[in-house]
Formats: sequence, C-alpha cells, structure tokens
Amino acid sequence: MNILILGSGGREHSLAWAIKQNPKCDRLIAAPGNAGTAEIAECADLDIENGGAVAAFAEENAIDFVVIGPEAPLAAGVADRLRDAGLLCFGPSQAAAKLESSKSFTKEVCDACNAPTAGYAHFTDAEAAKAYIREQGAPIVVKADGLAAGKGVIVAMEEQDALDAIDDMFGGAFGGAGAEVVIEEFMEGEEASYFILSDGKNILPVGTAQDHKRVGDGDTGPNTGGMGAYSPAPVMTDAVTQKALDEIVQPTVDEMAKRGTPYLGVLYAGFMIKDGQPRLVEYNVRFGDPECQVLMMRLGGQVLDLLLACAKGELDKAQVNWADDHAMTVVMAANGYPGSYEKGSVIKGLDDQPENSLNMVFHAGTKEVDGQITANGGRVLNVTARGDTLAEARDRAYAMADAIDWPEGFYRKDIGWRAL
Ligand code: AMP
Ligand code: GLY
Repeated sequence: MNILILGSGGREHSLAWAIKQNPKCDRLIAAPGNAGTAEIAECADLDIENGGAVAAFAEENAIDFVVIGPEAPLAAGVADRLRDAGLLCFGPSQAAAKLESSKSFTKEVCDACNAPTAGYAHFTDAEAAKAYIREQGAPIVVKADGLAAGKGVIVAMEEQDALDAIDDMFGGAFGGAGAEVVIEEFMEGEEASYFILSDGKNILPVGTAQDHKRVGDGDTGPNTGGMGAYSPAPVMTDAVTQKALDEIVQPTVDEMAKRGTPYLGVLYAGFMIKDGQPRLVEYNVRFGDPECQVLMMRLGGQVLDLLLACAKGELDKAQVNWADDHAMTVVMAANGYPGSYEKGSVIKGLDDQPENSLNMVFHAGTKEVDGQITANGGRVLNVTARGDTLAEARDRAYAMADAIDWPEGFYRKDIGWRAL
C-alpha cells in the first residue's frame, strides 16, 4: 500500500522506519519529513495543517493510508477532512483532539466518567483566578487552557509564582491559549506515560515510557520538549497499568463515544503515580516525541498492522507481539536549546553508526545541504537503542552518541537514571 506520514520530527522518522519494515508498505511519503526520512521515504513539501491540500495530495498520489504525527494538524481538523474524502487515516477528529487542545475539556470529561485526576477550577477572569489561588495556597499548578507548545504549565511552589503566571497568561504570553486557565491541585508522585490505541470502542496498549523534560543532568534547568526517554517505565507495573486502563482510559474512550465524538488514534496519557494509584495529569492525542522513538524501536514493523487495525475499527482483532526488551533514546540538541541556538552546523560521523533493529539514529531537526547533514532545529538527533536490559540499551545508545562528531550540539549523560 501507499502510505503518507505527516510531520517532520524524530517521531515521524521513527514511525517511517517502523512502517517501512512491514511488507505491506510499498510506497512511503513523508510530508514535509527531514534528512532522516529522506533516506527511507520520498519527502513532499506540503502544508500539513491544510486538510484540503493534504486530501488533494493523497488522492493525486493514490495514498491508501495517512498517519498524522503532530497535534497541530489534528487540532486543525485534518483527520476529519481526510475521512470526508473517504481516505483511511490514523488520528483523531478535531472534536476528539480537544482532549489535548483544551485542558478544561479534558477535566470535564474526567469528571463525567469519574476518572481520578487533580482537583481543579477553571477561570476566564484574572481576579477570580487570583482569589482562588490565594484561597488554595501553594504548591499549585496553573495551566493555559489551549495548545501552548508544552510551555503553558506553571508548577508553582510559591503562591507568588502562581499569581505571576496568571498575569502572564491573561497578559497574552501564550496568545489565545491563555485566555482561559485551569488551576489544579499539585499532585505528588512519579510520572510516567502510557500509549494506548483506541478505535473509538476497543483499546490496545502499545507501551509505557518515561521522559526527561529538563535540559540538564540530574533533571535541572529549564523544561524542554524532552531530552531522552526509555521504555518500559518500571513504575507502570501490571497492577498500575490495569488500574489506569480500567479507571481512566477505557472510561474516557466510552465517554467520548457516548458524546458522539469517538476517539480514534493513539491516546498518550500522562499519569502521576503514588502508592500504586495512577491519576491523570494530561492527555495528548498523538505519540510523544521522543517517546515514540523508543516505542517504535521495540515494536518494529508490526506497527503498521496496529495503526491500520486502529483506523479500521478492528482493534479487538489486533494484538501486540512483545519481546521482553528495553529501549532508550538520547536527544542530541543544538547548543543553547531550549533558548536560542544556531542552525546550519555540520554533523559528522553519522554514516559510521550502526543501523539495525538494535541501533538507530532518528533525525529530528536536520537538513541535507550539499550532501552533508546539518542541524536545522533545537532537538536535532535521537540516538536510540534496544537491549535485553535498560543498561544494555543505554550503553548502546551512548556509544553512538559519543561517536557522533558535532561540537555545536550537546546531550544529557544521565538518561534513565531513575530506572537504572
Ligand atoms: P502537562 O502539559 O499538563 O503535562 O504539564 C506539564 C508537566 O507539569 C507535567 O508533565 C507534570 O510534570 C507537571 N504537572 C502538570 N499538572 C500537574 C499537577 N496537577 N501536579 C503536579 N505536577 C503537574
Ligand atoms: N515528550 C513530550 C511530548 O511529546 O509532548
């Protein structure tokens, strides 16, 4: 079949890499893709948030299946437009994507299906929000309601920080995303992510992961999109995952179906786990980046069958074949990230890295210029490896990272420290 993957990050390179291994895949196109996807797929220059343009491109190229990577096209309704055109597509509708694009919507869904999550209140007025913060006291969490590229959450350990966050959000620091805020109870515990396919009715878990959001070793410094991840997450024991599915994920999927907006795609659930009890922190309506890279490394070519079963509403007939393995990815980022950084530096030594089912360097922000791979973003490479143990996966991943010659980049040296 002919398959189109929308997106240009490490997530989409890893999806392309896994899908390509499946014999059902004939032609693979990544739009817009990056220098890594260009090695295994055709790349197409396409406005991926324009549903009409994507549908027209898919029809012209006889595409049988579209996989949507990032949240922006989902929130823009690209999946709806593709389904209207009769195309098979992996990713939720605009209405179902509200589970990521509106935090107050998610809270309201949790209330409706009794899913454990942090207590909260929702405000459109700064003074009322501040009065609530003063009443509750710190620690407390302030969230811009809409999509804010992962930067709209302030975990305030002091009351003043929460009050300042209200001024920032209503002052327009996050554009329209901050016109409404959710204020939440601070939850203690250990965080982990769980990835679950949903075809609107049936669910199928495809793995757990933990990431490292802070830029520096020891989980210090500013937040980033993620500096590394590993799978599985030890805190997600069998008992915790069962509770998460029974008390949170399946009730959410049932509630969305009941509302006439069934959820079709991957649910990326973030949980806070304390004393064996998971509580929902948030949903995302896509695979995590870089969490996807470790999941793809573990799943390989079967991913295409799973995504197809999900898109066709046949997840009840699908199953995951697990090897009892571990995977880790280490993000190599441009010096300065998550602040300002330069583009265009040349990355050497990539050709010498092993590329097989145990080792893979996924590209994120890269661009080929005159036959050389150059940095073209903040997070640039995802050095990913698999092993029988997490320590083995880590050793393989760091051996690759150490051998890549890129003085203008850096990486954390302690990915997985909590689990190891
Ligand atoms: P979110 O974008 O909602 O995932 O929030 C970003 C991060 O903020 C989460 O991954 C948590 O580390 C933290 N966080 C969000 N909500 C809470 C909460 N209610 N209690 C404690 N930490 C939180
Ligand atoms: N790694 C965090 C995210 O994809 O949102």
